[in-house]
Amino acid sequence: MSSAISSVGSSQPRAMPSAPSRVVDSPQPGPHHDLSRRVARAFARPLQKPLAEHTRVAFARADAWLAAQNRPLIVDAGCGVGLSTRRLAAAYPGHAVIGVDRSADRLGREIGAVPDNALLVQGDLVDFWRLAFRAGWSPERHYLLYPNPYPKAAQLKKRWHGHPVLPWMLALGGRLELRTNWRLYAEEFALAVGQATGRTPTLGPYSPPEAADSEPLTPFEAKYARSGQPLWQLTVNLERQWHLFT
Ligand SMILES: C[S@@+](CC[C@H](N)C(=O)[O-])C[C@H]1O[C@@H](n2cnc3c(N)ncnc32)[C@H](O)[C@@H]1O
Repeated sequence: MSSAISSVGSSQPRAMPSAPSRVVDSPQPGPHHDLSRRVARAFARPLQKPLAEHTRVAFARADAWLAAQNRPLIVDAGCGVGLSTRRLAAAYPGHAVIGVDRSADRLGREIGAVPDNALLVQGDLVDFWRLAFRAGWSPERHYLLYPNPYPKAAQLKKRWHGHPVLPWMLALGGRLELRTNWRLYAEEFALAVGQATGRTPTLGPYSPPEAADSEPLTPFEAKYARSGQPLWQLTVNLERQWHLFT
């Protein structure tokens, strides 16, 4: 599979048509009882999973592209079809915006041209974040827009804040922004960030722009907004950590 995908087409990115959205249905009444232990464990026992070759290759190309851009970096982690990557690139023309997603199908959808200061990369974030850390990446902004919620209690380890890759994601530093339609996801994420970094994220309701000339940042945001679901936004400014696990 190709490691970096640039789609071409009309110059204006288009939101994808999508089915009506369902509210996240979870048996969890509050933050997961095992969250704190999992966060501590992620730092105490660093993830050893070998890096997949395809993400290594994809990362190497992204790293070369970024070096040639020679501008501050914005990472759009789990970018889906890359609508947000395109829109962030348009909103921050002085930045280099890298959207990463593991789905070749989503990345390959024809939703409009990719601006020169944006790159879409197919890769697994579990590997990509570790490679980015090792390569010294230091994003100014880092977006996690509507990550998969994994609402069953047994799926805590799949949520980013319960995943063993959490230390690397946080260690990249910069202004980290999470948006979700599941308040508990944001609350757990805030607890994990607080435990790991000592920083208290800002968490509150998020309203997508209503002006006729501005649109939701992602297809999921558009879908949730259309169905009137409340959305949540978490932001936190993180220091780049240079000596993780050393
Ligand atoms: C719910 S979708 C949100 C997509 C997009 N941010 C949006 O709001 O429209 C979550 C995305 O995360 C991607 N994803 C999940 N786990 C991933 C991983 N380990 N590495 C890369 N992408 C991942 C999925 O492929 C999917 O596109």
